[in-house]
Amino acid sequence: MSISELKNMQRETWNGLAQPWFRWNDLFEGGAISVTERLIGLSEICRSDTVLDVACGLGDTSYSVSNTLSADGSVVGIDIADTMIDICKVRFQDRPNIEFISGDAEKYLKSDCYDAILSRFGLMFFPDTAAILSELYKALKPGKKLCFSVWATPEHVPLISLTFSEVAKALALPAPPASNPGPFKLSNKSELVAELERAGFKDVLIQKISVPFELESAEEYLSYSKDILPKKISSCIDSDLSPSEKEALWKRILARSNEYVQEGIVKMDCKAYCISATKI
Ligand SMILES: C[S@@+](CC[C@H](N)C(=O)[O-])C[C@H]1O[C@@H](n2cnc3c(N)ncnc32)[C@H](O)[C@@H]1O
Repeated sequence: MSISELKNMQRETWNGLAQPWFRWNDLFEGGAISVTERLIGLSEICRSDTVLDVACGLGDTSYSVSNTLSADGSVVGIDIADTMIDICKVRFQDRPNIEFISGDAEKYLKSDCYDAILSRFGLMFFPDTAAILSELYKALKPGKKLCFSVWATPEHVPLISLTFSEVAKALALPAPPASNPGPFKLSNKSELVAELERAGFKDVLIQKISVPFELESAEEYLSYSKDILPKKISSCIDSDLSPSEKEALWKRILARSNEYVQEGIVKMDCKAYCISATKI
């Protein structure tokens, strides 16, 4: 698939996921807020800064950044999915210092514009990592930082990998090319450091962080997982599996998520990396 086909696929997938993500936003933010806080800490944002939030999704990181700014500071949140941006514009309409833009971040950026660039779980969805890192490098002012998070390897992120591995097994899906956009594309630390350095960044710092997700029960985990499956995958489940195979798939996911029950709830302690890298 070409880069532009992969980007169109991203647009289509995330446009379809905006409403389900919004329905489960409290659950996701319960864990992911710790990542936002770490990224803001690493970025050393000052109160009157101009900040970019790349692949802003439903806008929670943009909102947290805006809370650290004075009236003369501002945040731009950009996302390729119009439906995500439509939700952001409604959610944060009373925030004059946040602007939300719908579009491909790689095409939008101008040189030497930003005092900080943040991206929470966004950069792994760009098909050409070298291209987006090079654009982000140009867009930063000299001496300023790119701070972003990526997921650690799948076995450390059961919230995502448990369901995806069971679905892939049930549908006998071939492993996609490692360079394809996806949640684990940037989980190799040494490759990531090399990519950042090739783009020109210096002082690359990587911190491992716990992202603790809590769900009421295994049944809630299953409802969440079904709801946030990309449409293409849920259509394959419907068309390729018999009713009994589907039932068996849901039962396996329930059984495996039950292994995470502690003190009466499902606790999935996931791992991510928070990275900061400086433009010289
Ligand atoms: C896992 S979500 C993360 C959203 C948000 N940052 C968060 O942490 O909740 C990944 C986001 O990347 C966005 N995305 C993918 N490719 C993009 C691109 N080329 N330009 C801008 N956004 C993109 C998707 O639309 C999606 O909202």
